[in-house]
Order: sequence, then structure tokens, then C-alpha cells
Amino acid sequence: MAEVIIVDDADAAGQVAAGLIALELDRHPALVLGVATGSTPNSTYRALAERRPDLSQLTAFALDEYVGLEPRHPQSYAEVLRREFGEPLGVPASRIRLPGQGVAPVDAGAAYERAIVEAGGIDLQILGIGTDGHVGFNEPGSSLASLTRVKTLTEQTRADNARFFDSLDDVPLHCFTQGLGTIRRARALVLLAFGAEKAEAIAGAVEGPVSSSLPGSVIQLHPNVTVIVDEAAAGRLANGDYYRYAWQNRPEWAIDASL
Ligand code: GLP
Repeated sequence: MAEVIIVDDADAAGQVAAGLIALELDRHPALVLGVATGSTPNSTYRALAERRPDLSQLTAFALDEYVGLEPRHPQSYAEVLRREFGEPLGVPASRIRLPGQGVAPVDAGAAYERAIVEAGGIDLQILGIGTDGHVGFNEPGSSLASLTRVKTLTEQTRADNARFFDSLDDVPLHCFTQGLGTIRRARALVLLAFGAEKAEAIAGAVEGPVSSSLPGSVIQLHPNVTVIVDEAAAGRLANGDYYRYAWQNRPEWAIDASL
């Protein structure tokens, strides 16, 4: 079962997630961190930056990227990660890897999987979740064993993401995304979600049946998952009271000073 931590808001969640990352960094300074885009992980990146960690040996692997945007396009995930993660944390673009970099789209999936293996595997993967339960760009119906590949975005996701572009037509049709099988191979997962619009997806991911209809439910197949949500995103969890109780009464030895 995932450890579910219910906090007041995104800033508090960022502090907890940054604490977990800092703990991993103490153990492995050459951490391989899986980084996500979207608004959700930003409080984690900010909280981590406040700690001024030594990231000189860290390598980051992005969860996903659009197909067909120039790397310097303001909405390419290469650029978003440079802006939101690399710059505040002092991680150069050369150590932020993205699927599709320098290879033909048809070869991108296999090349990315190889690069992850060559780096020693992802130690900790940060995840957000879409309102329909998608993780990365694994839309409902994605195989729970899928690896990095090109996908066609759903109309819903294109419409959701149109706010970042001048018009819906400018939103790419295709993306590269780590697969759900890729995500399962990471040694630890940290899934974050905020706001009532994520409550259904979180309840399904944490407590619902494991199903490709709700890709986030893949976390239930992973042995080391921390879910950090605000009260609104926790609103549909059947076991919310237990998660609060367990977090308040966690054993002394499980409380790291970093949290
Ligand atoms: C996008 C990203 C996902 C992200 C999701 C939710 O589709 N590919 O990785 O989890 O949006 O975004 P937000 O965090 O802004 O709610």
C-alpha cells in the first residue's frame, strides 16, 4: 500500500517531497531523479532549491515531452524543465535528459529506455496526475507494462494544455512518454496532487482497482510509493482518516529530520 500523506497545501507538500529527495541525495549523491512537468511539482522544486542541496552529481530524466516542438519553444518540456527545475536548482540542461533528444521519433522509446538503464535506473520518480488519471502522457487505456514510446494525445489533454499555447491548433498531436512499465521500474515513486479536481483520480489511483482505465492506479503495483496530497485532493479517499492517523502516529525511527 502506498503511504498517503495529507497536508494543508501545495507548499507543505513541496516541503515533504523535498525532504524525501534530500534524504535520497544523502544516500546517493549521484541520484537519478525522474522529473515531471505540469504545475504540480513546482512547489517541490522550490522547496528543494531552498535547501541548497549539492546536485553536482545528479542526473534528471523527464517523464515526457511533446513531439515536434523546438527544444527552445517556451512550452517544450525541455524548456519548462530548464526554467522550473534546472535554473533554480543549478542543474545544467546537459544533465536533464528528455525522450526524443537527438534521435528520430521512431527510435526514441528504445533509446530512452537504454539511457535510463545506462544511468543505473531512476532512483526516485516524481509524478503528477491528470484529472482523468493519466500519468506522464499515459492516457486511459495505456498498458500497465508499457515502455517509453510515442503516443497520440487525447483531445481532452490537448484542450487542457491549450492554455499554455496561443491556440488549440498549436498544441502538438503527439508526445513521447515514459510508459507505465518504465515508471514501475523506478526504485521509488512520489505522486503529488492538489485541488478537488484531482480527488477522483487520487481515490482511483490509491484505492480503486488496478486498471489501464486509470493509469495512475499502476502505483499499487509498486512497493515504494509516497502519495502527497492536499485536503481537497484527498476528499474522495475512503481511508483518509486512517492515512491522517497513520501519519500522525508514524514510528519515531520513520520520521526523518528532513521532513
Ligand atoms: C500533463 C503532464 C503530466 C501532469 C499533468 C497534470 O499532461 N504530462 O505529467 O501530471 O499534465 O498537470 P498539472 O500538474 O498542471 O495539474
